[in-house]
Amino acid sequence: MSKKGILVIGSSNTDMTVKTKALPRPGETVLGGVFTMGAGGKGANQAVAAQRLGGNVKFICKVGNDIFGDNSIAHYKKEGLDTAGIIRSELPSGVALISVDEHAENCIVVASGANGDLLEADIDASAKDIRECGILLLQLETPIPSVLKAAKMAHEAGATVVLNPAPACPLPDELFKYIDLFIPNETELSTFSGMPVEDVASAEKAAAAMQAKGVGKLIVTMGSKGALICEDGRSVFVPAHKVKAVDTTAAGDTFCGALCVAVSEGKSLKEAAEFACAASALTVQKMGAQNSIPFRSDINL
Ligand code: RIB
Repeated sequence: MSKKGILVIGSSNTDMTVKTKALPRPGETVLGGVFTMGAGGKGANQAVAAQRLGGNVKFICKVGNDIFGDNSIAHYKKEGLDTAGIIRSELPSGVALISVDEHAENCIVVASGANGDLLEADIDASAKDIRECGILLLQLETPIPSVLKAAKMAHEAGATVVLNPAPACPLPDELFKYIDLFIPNETELSTFSGMPVEDVASAEKAAAAMQAKGVGKLIVTMGSKGALICEDGRSVFVPAHKVKAVDTTAAGDTFCGALCVAVSEGKSLKEAAEFACAASALTVQKMGAQNSIPFRSDINL
């Protein structure tokens, strides 16, 4: 990969989505609307977003020897992603069951399958790509020891390591010192910092706590409010575009992919966050994950 290249290592899922008036409570059955099936997975969404938005992207993931795995690989090739690092697993391909309510909020259950089989040996096998990339973009839908190994390898090779810590889960403290750019949402930031995050002031305090753990810079995504950049002891707030959201699935993934593209082009973090906010504002206006991710030509920046 070139030093401007973006390497995404992460999950690949097939998303099965139903729109409902309200999300079901425990023990409740609700009748929904139309069922749709499409490409998803946080890793894949971020890779596709970065590719559509102008990045030079390689995607490494693990899929099953099944029809979902076949379809996913064919789809990534069609998107123009470098798929040479995609590995087959004995386990079934990842699947996500998603409900989306009338306020565009979702709830997601992931059957990880092959994503859970992306092991440290697979990271070793991808060492050349990891050492040669400019930016390594990671999430937490694959085993944590593999995330740690990839982050350490890229950090030691001088790449910019970006972690979107979703879904939140216990992480070894060692990981934080390899992260140049940490992109949590408010809930994730609260989980990792152990502090309440409700507004810009509390997000700034929690971000400082993460920097004390070793994280470099942070961008806190704050949903329909916008994104808070914390770097070098200063913070800047970038407001979100005011749009009518129908489905927020993959909004955060689009943000991360877009952000990495802008950083790979040498833009400042503020310019990169503005670009990422513009991209995710388009994603929330359509149903589905990759179905809703925009192309560079859709963005007037
Ligand atoms: O971030 C959205 C994604 O989370 C969905 O596409 C689903 O597959 C889950 O991984």
